[in-house]
Amino acid sequence: MRDFLIAPSLLSADFAHLADEVRDVTAAGADWLHLDAMDNHYVPNLTVGPCVCAAIRPHANVPLDVHLMTTPVDALVVPFAQAGASLISFHPEASLHVHRTLELIQASGARAGLALNPATPLTVLDHVIDQLDVVLVMSVNPGFGGQAFIPATLAKLRLVRERVDAAMQRTGRRLLVEVDGGVKASNIAQIAEAGADVFVAGSAVFGASDYAQAIGALRGALGQQEREGAVMAR
Ligand code: DX5
Ligand code: ZN
Repeated sequence: MRDFLIAPSLLSADFAHLADEVRDVTAAGADWLHLDAMDNHYVPNLTVGPCVCAAIRPHANVPLDVHLMTTPVDALVVPFAQAGASLISFHPEASLHVHRTLELIQASGARAGLALNPATPLTVLDHVIDQLDVVLVMSVNPGFGGQAFIPATLAKLRLVRERVDAAMQRTGRRLLVEVDGGVKASNIAQIAEAGADVFVAGSAVFGASDYAQAIGALRGALGQQEREGAVMAR
C-alpha cells in the first residue's frame, strides 16, 4: 500500500491566529502544511507571501508545501525557499519558461511541484517529469477554498498515476501525486484509489471543531491506522 499524507490547507485557517492554527493542526497529525499564495492576477484572490511563510515556519514541525498561484513565478521562488518552503509548486500557465522555473526551485534547495488545473493537459509533463518531486493535480479551479471536487479529476488522476509510475520505474526517483480541492472523508478513498499520495484538505480540516478528529476521519477513510511519518522532511 502507498504511504498517504494529509496536508491541511491554511487557506481555511483563522488568519488572525495563524501560529496557533499551525501548532494545533500539526499537533492534530498533519503530515505537511499547505500554504496557498494567491496574487489577484493569476487567480481572483489575494492571500500571503514569503513573510507569512517565514512567520509560521518556526511554529510548524512538518514540511511546508507552498502552492504558488501567481504570475510571474520566478521572482517568488528564492524568497519562499528562504522563508522555509520545503516544496514549491507552480502552474505551468503562470511561467513563461517552465523548465527554467523548475531549475530555479531546485537551485533554491526546495522540492519542485507542477500544478495542473482541471483543464490543463498532461502533455505539460512530457519533458519535465524527471525534474519534478510532485505532480499537484487540481480537483477544483484554483482561487478559493470550499469548492466542490470536480469528478472528472478521478480519470485524470489515473492517467497521472500511470505517468508517474512509469517515470519512477525508469529513473528510480520518488515522485508524489498530490490532489488539491474538495477532498473530504466521503471522497478521499476514491481519490486514493485513483492514484493520489498526498491529500490537501482545507475546509474539511479547518471547518471542523476538532482537527484531530477531522484528520482521523480522513485517515480512517484511507484505511490508515495511525499517523505515518512525513516522507519529505527538510
Ligand atoms: C484552492 C487551493 C486549495 C484550497 C483547498 O485554490 O489551492 O489548497 O485551500 O480547499 P478545500 O479543501 O476547502 O477545497
Ligand atoms: Zn492549494
